[in-house]
Amino acid sequence: MRNAARLVTDSLPPELRADRDAVEESLRAVRTIHATRLGTAARHLLEAGGKRLRPLLTCAAARTLGADPRPRAALVAAVELVHVGSLLHDDVIDAGAVRRGRPAVHAAYDAHTAILAGDLLFAWAFDRLARDGSRELQIALGDAIRALCEGEVLERERRRDPTVEVEHVRRVNRLKTAALFGYAAEAAALLADAPTATRAALREYGLALGEAFQAADDLLDWEGRPESLGKPLCRDLAEGLVNLPVALGADRDGALRDAVRACWGASDDDAAAARRFALRAALREAGAFEATRELAREDARRAVAALHPLPAGPWRDWLAAAAAASVERDG
Ligand code: IPE
Ligand code: IPE
Ligand code: MG
Ligand code: MG
Repeated sequence: MRNAARLVTDSLPPELRADRDAVEESLRAVRTIHATRLGTAARHLLEAGGKRLRPLLTCAAARTLGADPRPRAALVAAVELVHVGSLLHDDVIDAGAVRRGRPAVHAAYDAHTAILAGDLLFAWAFDRLARDGSRELQIALGDAIRALCEGEVLERERRRDPTVEVEHVRRVNRLKTAALFGYAAEAAALLADAPTATRAALREYGLALGEAFQAADDLLDWEGRPESLGKPLCRDLAEGLVNLPVALGADRDGALRDAVRACWGASDDDAAAARRFALRAALREAGAFEATRELAREDARRAVAALHPLPAGPWRDWLAAAAAASVERDG
């Protein structure tokens, strides 16, 4: 099981396939609301697919606790609505033009519409939780969104700074990405009315998996395939952002910071592409990609260790496999 895209699309156990169908069904329900230009913009990415990894984690974690997530599919789907809302905003912030293989919402519409459509997606998510969820779910999801926003801001604060430390990037990744994965896993404990210790274990699992997932995303930005990622490569550097391979590479070889600066100072697109190409080779040479993968694998191992207090069985095994696949993926 080397690939999260394959893990969540091709090789789901039948129960999880049924769970995902229920989540999809519930996401389709937003078709009937907000039949306006804004509503259509909010649906643009939802209908373009995506791995649905966050709701799948909630479902598998709920099954680990003996709960059937299908009757609560509308609640489970809220995390995907927030994720998609964050993608709309993120693509405005870091000028990502292609997402899930289609033009990003700000490119297909405009930035104002993308921002407001992202807000609408957040509103849809909280509407679901308010109608049929617990207060704790709302508080936990609010916390995850706050972390996500702080992470995005923290990342921008060090834009075009080649001295960004590994620890800074790790903190950004924990906030902007891992917090929502932490919520996704924790939500299962809340849905299943599980004890506090179970809730904490699942949150720990989700946070560690999320760190692994974002480390892999940083790596894929350098070494991935745009067709399987559904987004172009080298976007972080082009946006003036130091991601994990660059921070780890600069830690090993300080001269790489000059190469990073040179990319940002390139006079035209061709010169920038040539310098990026040279930097990629230098990063590979310095072992930065391998170091990133190793860090991500450590995160995934931490995620698996966090599952220890949960009941053993095929669902706990699936969660463990999902953590490993978050690293060894190409989409
Ligand atoms: C993309 O998330 C944003 C990151 C946190 C890296 P995914 O890789 O889960 O995107 P989709 O949902 O499959 O499109
Ligand atoms: C994660 O960071 C974005 C979110 C928190 C939504 P990235 O900026 O690396 O995500 P991609 O690469 O655009 O998917
Ligand atoms: Mg981005
Ligand atoms: Mg990225």
